[in-house]
Amino acid sequence: MESIQLTTSSGKNICYRKSGAGPYLVLLHGFPEDNSLWDMVIPGIEQEFGLIIPDLPGAGKSDLQEDTSMESLAESIKQLLDHEQADTVVMAGHSMGGYVTMAFADLYPEYLKGYALVHSTATADTEEKKEIRRKAIALIQKGGKEPFVKGMIPNLFGDWFKAAHPEIIEKQIARSLLMSAESMISFYNCMINRPDRTNVLSDRELPVQWIIGKEDNVVPLQVALQQSGMSVVNFVEIYEHTGHMSMIERPERLAGDLRKFTRYCLNR
Ligand code: MLT
Repeated sequence: MESIQLTTSSGKNICYRKSGAGPYLVLLHGFPEDNSLWDMVIPGIEQEFGLIIPDLPGAGKSDLQEDTSMESLAESIKQLLDHEQADTVVMAGHSMGGYVTMAFADLYPEYLKGYALVHSTATADTEEKKEIRRKAIALIQKGGKEPFVKGMIPNLFGDWFKAAHPEIIEKQIARSLLMSAESMISFYNCMINRPDRTNVLSDRELPVQWIIGKEDNVVPLQVALQQSGMSVVNFVEIYEHTGHMSMIERPERLAGDLRKFTRYCLNR
């Protein structure tokens, strides 16, 4: 895979990995992660499709933007795609990456043949969720990034996986701690401020794949299922004994499901 750095119109750098040729499958990671989140899924998809896998601005090696919003994140992905002359793609976004995907589908639907929401939702935060995020921001601002990350990461995994693979949870914690406190705060504010985009599911008339973990504490089964009927074409995949992190908990199945969906979108 090639590692590429691009300077966007704001003067900030965005970094991404690329393999193969278009039409591309674009993989967007969630919070507080970087593009290495997809490492275990890549071997199952790179033979069939070209891949573009960015570090979202503020994560991994990409610079944090001055005013981060879901729209500005989507805009920087658009600049990257323009640079690659990739005007026809399928996008898969994990959790926060799915919120960026929804903003992208809202603003730039002409680039998309379809998109996958991997443990994600088109809804806005509830008031309760916003309050939890504000408390987390206050903790991080007081220097509490480490307890915040150590508290949040284990909760992302299903019970079986957590018990069977404590070393992977530790690795994920160490990886998440690489994100700066400033980026974490900025991403949390941008999640608090994102609008409901359920209308985009039906208005854009694009196929949508729903990857749902039965033990997901962040996007519960019912929340994802309720929305899955709103798009014109749905692929719904429910994973047993899986939390919020199928790219680590069930990478082979996820690779197979993304392959099936991408093939469908590109051939329709
Ligand atoms: C993520 O995995 O991106 C986050 O858990 C999303 C969220 O907190 O809503």
